Amino acid sequence: MSELDLNNIPKHVAIIMDGNGRWATNRGKDRVYGHMNGVESVRAAVKSAVKFGIKHLTLYAFSTENWDRPQKEVNALMDLLVTTLVNESNELFDQGVQLKTIGDLSALPEECQESLEKAKSKAPTPCTLVLTLALNYSSKWEIISAIKTMMDRGLNSTDIDETTVSKYLATSDLPDPELMIRTSGENRISNFMLWQLAYAEFHFSSVLWPDFREEHFLEALLDYQNRDRRFGGVSQSGN
Ligand code: FPP
Repeated sequence: MSELDLNNIPKHVAIIMDGNGRWATNRGKDRVYGHMNGVESVRAAVKSAVKFGIKHLTLYAFSTENWDRPQKEVNALMDLLVTTLVNESNELFDQGVQLKTIGDLSALPEECQESLEKAKSKAPTPCTLVLTLALNYSSKWEIISAIKTMMDRGLNSTDIDETTVSKYLATSDLPDPELMIRTSGENRISNFMLWQLAYAEFHFSSVLWPDFREEHFLEALLDYQNRDRRFGGVSQSGN
């Protein structure tokens, strides 16, 4: 922690939480056991984000493709979401965490939608961290929805620039992430925030999500702080 430059903390970190299934299988358990243990890592990531002074944390919790998993696993994930929201929303509020979501919630079970709406309606002041859960989310879905809305509202091609597109995305009220972390050793972004990650730094960790703790988060931040972010230009040293 002492090596961390507190003047260079990303405002927004996005995480692809991956490896729950393998973590469980490695232990001879059902995949759902991995998701259950993944919740502890969500708790730890939120605490770490608050501690490191990160203002936005976005977690990829359920993609539009995840519906293709066995029904039992999908049901367990939905139940886990409801239970976690019911059990943790007071604690989140006390930590100053504001919950948000991106994704098409209308396809989620009613109980899930209700718990989410209730948890999101709690607005802590001051707000220390905005925790965004990507649920029934995919980037291609989001971009298509944005195009449809722009067309429905009669926008002309001349009205459309980067700012306009950003405004029509589900993340219109969030800054773009400067850092994306993916766990489990997979090096891809799986339809996650394709537009918003255009200039983000990527940190791929070999740790499986249920094992992800503050030390791994710190490792990702240190890796980020060692990067030379040029945004298509040249570095200040000219190298
Ligand atoms: C990916 O691991 C993980 C998910 C699709 C679900 C993530 C859900 C949680 C961490 C628990 C609930 C979340 C909240 C916010 C309460 P995988 O199953 O694809 O792992 P594998 O690649 O090893 O099979």
